[in-house]
Amino acid sequence: MNKVILTGDRPTGKLHIGHYVGSLRRRVELQDSGEYDRIFIMIADAQALTDNADNPEKIRQNVIEVALDYLAAGLDPKKVNIFIQSAVPELTELAFYYMNLVSVARVQRNPTVKTEIEMRGFAGESIPTGFFCYPISQAADITLFHGTTVPAGEDQKPMIELTNEIVRRFNSIYGPVLNECQILLPQNQACMRLPGTDGKAKMSKSLGNCIYLSDSAKELKKKVNSMYTDPEHLTIEQPGHLEGNTVFTYLDAFCTDDDFARFLPDYPNLQALKDHYTRGGLGDGTCKKFLFNVLNDRLEPMRQRRAEYEQNIQGVYDILAAGTAAAREIAQQTIAEVRHAMRIDYFEDKELIAEQAKRYKGE
Ligand code: TRP
Repeated sequence: MNKVILTGDRPTGKLHIGHYVGSLRRRVELQDSGEYDRIFIMIADAQALTDNADNPEKIRQNVIEVALDYLAAGLDPKKVNIFIQSAVPELTELAFYYMNLVSVARVQRNPTVKTEIEMRGFAGESIPTGFFCYPISQAADITLFHGTTVPAGEDQKPMIELTNEIVRRFNSIYGPVLNECQILLPQNQACMRLPGTDGKAKMSKSLGNCIYLSDSAKELKKKVNSMYTDPEHLTIEQPGHLEGNTVFTYLDAFCTDDDFARFLPDYPNLQALKDHYTRGGLGDGTCKKFLFNVLNDRLEPMRQRRAEYEQNIQGVYDILAAGTAAAREIAQQTIAEVRHAMRIDYFEDKELIAEQAKRYKGE
């Protein structure tokens, strides 16, 4: 069986370093590993519209931001298909068939959807039907491309479980057309859910606690310097705590031993730095300066690539158009298989037509 990656992001804003360690960095490694037959990266504008119906302009403006962030992060359009979800109408069709295979109760049990409904403050049953159904549409996103591997955060786990349930149900009713998939989770706990710079559970635009991939060195420095650390660590001499200390969580997600050799050679590795911090005698300033250097080292090549692509916006749309055309080719093949399995490919179904013609002639 082919190995196929399918993943994506809602274009509701620029991508931040949480997106990067959560999935984007992995995608670039996978693209360069050469182990995958196809890689599809989807800008999920249709999904973003499920809770932004009144603000389509936001989505419209952010498609290019996400595309620029992808390219800046190192996704190579020669190796991956970056495409726009709404431009592949086969996705909508497949999702519509899948809706018949999933009960309302099953979607309601999805913990990610539950939290999201709360977060968005949809009272009672005022939640848009499209938003409620997005996990089902996400199953279509993955399976339409015969995705085998979905690099994504932990919050996407319930989607993958549902996807595989739909696959099994579909195949058992209509025949073996679809394949199951696996989630590929981030490397460690810090990458799984990178907190905001204020120490809050999640980076979110509305909380103003994000470090964006496109932040300048100056913005980055300001954000790192104001990061949440250990409120009980008042003097350098005092022992510091690591738990909930955002600076160390970010270091867990980003730094390598090589970074110590380059930026903080007094320590061989992160463990040595942590030991000193918890022993006492190490100030937050030193750790923040180191973190700034590490992050800046990762972001600088992205800024440069972004700046180049920003000078050629038409070229970026051309990349999206080409990626979308390639995605549609696969999409049309799969949807033809699906229709055939469901026996709704009427015009191709010579047997059906002949049998009915015969019946009506009274033969
Ligand atoms: N839900 C993802 C997000 O919030 C975007 C997405 C849509 C996705 N379809 C997908 C991710 C399929 C992985 C697989 O950003």
